[in-house]
Order: sequence, then C-alpha cells, then structure tokens
Amino acid sequence: MLSLVAVPGDPHDLASLELSATEMRVMARTVVDRLVDHITSLSDLPASGLVEDGADYGRAMREPPPEQGAELEALLAPLLDDWALRSFNCAGPGYLAYVPGGGIFPAALADLIADGINRYTGVWNAAPALVQLEANVLDWLRDWMDFPATTRGLLTTGGSMATFTAIVTARHKLLGPALREGVLYTSTQAHHCVAKAAQLAGILPDRVRVIDVDECERLRVDRLAEAIEVDRRAGLRPFMVVSAAGTTNTGAIDPLDAIADLCATEQLWHHCDGAYGGFFHMCPELRPLLAGLSRADSLTLDPHKGLFLPFGTGALLVRDGEALRAAHAGHAGYLPPLPPSDIYNPAQFGPELSRPFRGLRLWLPLKLFGAERFRAALAEKRALALQCAERLTAVAGLQLLAPPPLSLFAYQLGWDGATGEQRNAATLALLEGVNRRNRVLLTGAPVGEHFYGRVCVLCFRTRQANIDACVEDLGAEAAAILKARR
Ligand SMILES: Cc1ncc(COP(=O)(O)O)c(C=O)c1O
Repeated sequence: MLSLVAVPGDPHDLASLELSATEMRVMARTVVDRLVDHITSLSDLPASGLVEDGADYGRAMREPPPEQGAELEALLAPLLDDWALRSFNCAGPGYLAYVPGGGIFPAALADLIADGINRYTGVWNAAPALVQLEANVLDWLRDWMDFPATTRGLLTTGGSMATFTAIVTARHKLLGPALREGVLYTSTQAHHCVAKAAQLAGILPDRVRVIDVDECERLRVDRLAEAIEVDRRAGLRPFMVVSAAGTTNTGAIDPLDAIADLCATEQLWHHCDGAYGGFFHMCPELRPLLAGLSRADSLTLDPHKGLFLPFGTGALLVRDGEALRAAHAGHAGYLPPLPPSDIYNPAQFGPELSRPFRGLRLWLPLKLFGAERFRAALAEKRALALQCAERLTAVAGLQLLAPPPLSLFAYQLGWDGATGEQRNAATLALLEGVNRRNRVLLTGAPVGEHFYGRVCVLCFRTRQANIDACVEDLGAEAAAILKARR
C-alpha cells in the first residue's frame, strides 16, 4: 500500500512524470473522497465564506515556484479546507445571487476523463468518434432551441466568448472589410459582454447603439427602428441587433418576435443572448415565454448556467452554419485534410485550434441523467422563483418590478412617500441584512436611477427549504428596516 507521505513518482528518475497505477488510484481516491466530503457539506456552509479580506489574504499567499514536489494531502488540505471556503458558496443551495451555475458531479467526472485521456479534439481527424460526441451535443442543443438543420454551433468557455464569436460571424458575413460603417444595436439592459465583444470584434463603441427599454426593462422596438433609420440616413450600415432572452439585471425578456420581424425587414443579423434564459426553452410549457427565440440568426447559451454545469462551458448556435464556418475557417498544410462537409470539425467553426474536449462535460451528464431530468430541474427553478415572488408580495414595503419572466426577478423596498434615493438605500440595506444572516446570498443591480434587489433561482441545489429561508430573511429584514425608520 502506497503511503501518501511520499511524493509520488520515482525520486531517482526525475525526468519521468509518470505515476504507477497504484499511485494514480490512491491519488484519485484521495481527491474524490475529499471532493465528496466538500460537496456533501455545501448545504451546511454559509452562503458566503470570508471574502472581505481577499486582497490582503491574496497578497500573503504569493509564493515562489516550487522547486521540489510536495505531498498531495498537504496540498489538498489548505485548498479545500481554507482557500475554497473563502468564496461565495455559488455551488451551494442558498446561492440566489448574480446568475447561479451549479456544478453537477458527472461533469467533474467527465473533465477528469477528458483530461485523463487527453485526446486532441481540435481537428476531427485526430479523434473522429470523440468529436462526433461533441457534434451530437451541439445537434441536441439545436433541436432543443428549435433551430433548423442548417445550424452549426460551437462550444466555448462561456457566454461572453459565444457572443464574441457571433458578432465576428455577423460582421464577417454582412460587413466584409467595411467594419467602420457597421452599427450594432442592443439595449441599455444588455450584458456588458456585448459591448466588450463588439469592441474585440472591431465594432468600436461609437458604432454600438444602446436602445431604451420599456417599464419592464425590455428593449423598445420602436426606438430600435428609429435608431436604424437615423443611422441609414447618416450613410452607416446597421448590421446586427443583440437581444436578451433574460437579462442579468432583472430577468427581462426582450420582444424577440418583434425584433426578429424588424431584423427580417431591415436585413439585420439578430443575435439573441440566451446565456441566462435560453435553456428554459427546453421545457415545452415555458417556450411561449421565449417566443421568437428560435427565429434568431444566432443564440448564446451557457450550459454552465442553465444546464447546471461547472463554470467553463458556453455555446453558440448559428442558423446559417456556413456563415460560422466562413468566418472561422483556416487551414495549414501540416494539418490532416479537411473532412467531408457533413462532418463537424471544431477548428473550422471557432477561433481555437488546440482546445479541451468540452463536449464530454455535456455529453456524459446528459446521457447519464437524460434530458427529462434537466427539464424537470429547470421547471422546478422557475416554479420556485414564481412562488418566492408571490410570497414576497405579501411583505410590507416590498414591490416587485414585474413577476419573474423566468426564474429571476427584481424588487425594491420602500414606503409611501419614499424618494427614489430612500428606496435605493433601503433596498441596499435589505440585501446587506439578508446576506449577514448568510443563509442565502442575494445581489442587486443598478438600473437607471433605481437600485433593485434580485433573486435568481438557477442553482440545481436550490430547493424549497432555501426559498423558505429567502422569504423569511427578506421578510424579517424588511420589517426591521421599516420599523427602524418610524
Ligand atoms: C445574460 C448574460 N449574458 C452573458 C453573460 C456572460 O456569460 P459568461 O459569464 O458565461 O461569459 C452572462 C453572465 O452572467 C449573462 O447573465
């Protein structure tokens, strides 16, 4: 039996980084045991660990490169017992902040396998069967989003990179070399990755129009049409609209059908940011909420949100798959020949050549659980958000901006005659109070003049008990704030 006291590997053969079969098994078992202990403790951990002293703590952690090896256990102990706990517990059930992810366990196993087998999935020829698994996953996403057979897609690191790739594709198809004339439209509520992606794609800030929203924070199509007309009259080339199927701030769903109509008339590319909300389209009963999503020219999805994966997986679907390929195709003589056109070749559809085998972290959990389990989990998160919002309407002083469009909603705390500033301050104090209780973690968002509190239910571990805690804590803190001002 190997003792983990020893540094693994042969100490007399420094050049060998190979481990014995026994060493690998013992190390893997040690890690998995530790990991399962961590995961099973998540619901007992506070909603947020200590992060306030992060800068000082981080500075104190700076270290020179290790010259000699160390024991695995000695490395795991601080990692899992200290450093990992100095964090928002965003894998935990009380995480209702920002847009939760989750981290389903089979995806971690898939990563272990993908990294362990370490096959090359940048070009199809190097691992045709593995690349086909990835192609299958993209086809499943296509079907769940009701995109046509012409669709091609790409698995990315996240929603930001998917959006970037979409803008590059639209720009390539519709503008060619005339970058400076191109104008992109989005709303005041768009995720900031849209402006960033536009800039990276060569669409500078003076060619990005930020369109007003309505009282529910949805893009105003009348204003969009006006802005397009103004730009056309000025000799510019409107080429793209980026809508949101669920904004980060308030969960608002833009009028996707009306935007699709306008884009069709104006011959613009409609990209829909479904990073937060897109996967709710998997549930047939929720599809009407996202009407028009399937008409978009391209769609950002974030499996590390709506499919509950660990961080690091986004996805892009492009209706005109050929446009995606045309914007990214590149080849070199040293590479194997390109496969037939019906075969998916990742490097031809995105900016990367060497890349991790991302497909497996979707394929394994989806095959293991089946799509019905994911649909059930998504439907439950939506139902929990609706119930939470409904119960909060009974809390004195709390006003919802709107019922949850999906599983995210925004609210303010106030009282008769309260000024906007007082409402903002009260809402901030409310969130601080709830977060001090540390059963759930909430964040807010400034929207125009308003500061809203938010609840976003999307962690797969969030169940009824956590919503009960959220309602109780918001109710108690709201009451305390209102009492204190009397
Ligand atoms: C609506 C929306 N779009 C885009 C993004 C960016 O996605 P990512 O963080 O995966 O890059 C987010 C992230 O929260 C989001 O909520």
